[in-house]
Amino acid sequence: MNTVISPSLLACDFLNIENELKHFEDVKHLWFHLDIMDGHFVPNLTFGQPIIKKISQKTKQPLDAHLMVSNPEFYIESLKDMNLHNFTWHIEAQSEDVLSLISKAKKHYSSVGLSIKPKSNLNLLSDEILCAIDLVLVMSVEPGFGGQKFIEETYERISALVKRRKNLGLSFSIQVDGGVNEHNAKKLIDAGADNLVAGSYIFKEGPNKYLEKINSLR
Ligand code: DX5
Ligand code: ZN
Repeated sequence: MNTVISPSLLACDFLNIENELKHFEDVKHLWFHLDIMDGHFVPNLTFGQPIIKKISQKTKQPLDAHLMVSNPEFYIESLKDMNLHNFTWHIEAQSEDVLSLISKAKKHYSSVGLSIKPKSNLNLLSDEILCAIDLVLVMSVEPGFGGQKFIEETYERISALVKRRKNLGLSFSIQVDGGVNEHNAKKLIDAGADNLVAGSYIFKEGPNKYLEKINSLR
């Protein structure tokens, strides 16, 4: 299967987003990863609806929203017309019935995901929840900031999810986010990851290297 690569726009040149997007327009199996932080669920604050709307008008590539917010329900509604392909929030974020939030999200997004922080018990994602979602986002750093060091325990967490996916006869995707680079990508794919988010690694050396970086992750 083709590994999806999801460049995290958090690491791109924000004053030049339109041009940044163009470099990736013809790349197959690519999602643009949007890190939406509310300054509450995580200390950092990024961008919201107005900027996402502009981005969605400038690309045909699928948009992948990663909500690091305390109130995902608000965003399920407010981002519903932004043409997002995937909508992921954190299992740690809310106490309301997760299954009902998932069915709300399913009305507006073709893919719905849940993310889990590195220190959270994987059992927070119950079998029932796994049956209802399209994607699990395994955080390989503490959410909130780009450029952090990859947490090695991530491989085991991916393997555990692969096992559960098989036992349950499911097909949700496994996405990994944080500190992904050319040194850990192969091991992540071998462990069962099918979607790699990368920010600093793709963007840090400038546009001439973007495509090379993407290929090196695959
Ligand atoms: C962290 C974000 C990531 C971040 C990844 O909270 O969810 O998507 O942009 O950046 P790198 O690849 O630099 O770790
Ligand atoms: Zn992210």
